[in-house]
Amino acid sequence: MFRTNAELMKRAREGGYAIGAFNTNNLEITKSIFRAASEEKSPIILAISPSAAKYAGIDNLVAMARIGTEETGVPVSVHLDHGTEFEHIIQAIRAGFSSIMFDGSKYPYEKNVELTKEAVKIGHAAGITVEGELGRLVGVEEQISVSEREASMTDPDQALDFVERTGVDALAVSIGNAHGWYKGKPLLDFARLEAISKKIGDKALIVLHGASGIPDEDIRRAISLGITKINIDTETRDAFKRGVAQFMQENPDVIDPRKIMKPAMEEMFKIVSKKIRLFGSSGRASESIAYVTGRVA
Ligand code: G3H
Ligand code: 13P
Ligand code: ZN
Repeated sequence: MFRTNAELMKRAREGGYAIGAFNTNNLEITKSIFRAASEEKSPIILAISPSAAKYAGIDNLVAMARIGTEETGVPVSVHLDHGTEFEHIIQAIRAGFSSIMFDGSKYPYEKNVELTKEAVKIGHAAGITVEGELGRLVGVEEQISVSEREASMTDPDQALDFVERTGVDALAVSIGNAHGWYKGKPLLDFARLEAISKKIGDKALIVLHGASGIPDEDIRRAISLGITKINIDTETRDAFKRGVAQFMQENPDVIDPRKIMKPAMEEMFKIVSKKIRLFGSSGRASESIAYVTGRVA
């Protein structure tokens, strides 16, 4: 049985830590994430994007998540990452996801509100929690001016309005974070994050996307300012590539995929474990289970 993101994140907020949302799109990534969660005794969110679902087959990914959840016993949420169409949401619900993200950030504000509100209605009717996004995550390749950068970020007053009008359980914010590798040190606007956190209070939970490459001290600061879900994909992909590349360089004649994938899985396991420790969710599996079953005093 999967947990919802909100269940895990609420407990994380009380405990002062964050839950890692790790993207997966195949068996090797999924098994590496589960191994890390199991050894760290940590709750996790498995993030599945629409293109990952298309690549692997949505039911294959959910079946792997079910097996991993049963085998490890850690609390797991299976979450739709960056659903941009209602089709994505419906397919995720049908496949058994416990949480969805509707990303309407490419639309003008009022359209984002309207569509996200509808997504919340659908998600809640299915008994799962919903994440929305406000503000645009600027691509690392995009050349934009300082004022454009400012305009792409989440406005604290608008964040409160968005949360109240849509009813989202969680909000992904734009505070200088971006998907992919950063060029140089990321410049996160912590004052903005603090203002968003204060405005929203306990009306919604706050999410940080594009966390690959953000220095550890900035991640800790973001958690201290209210972030309870942290998305990682690029660093896992990089670990995968590194493992395969190094192995092939040293063993150019090997053709057995199991041998080729093994070092990649080891590298992914190491990076996911490291992030789990950084986010502070190590050893939180049992209290998280107790919390969602209502046994925490
Ligand atoms: O932020 C998006 C995630 O990194 C997933 O990327 O759409 O290539 O699966 P993807
Ligand atoms: P990174 O690929 O930059 O880690 O971002 C992941 C993400 O935000 C997935 O939604
Ligand atoms: Zn993202």
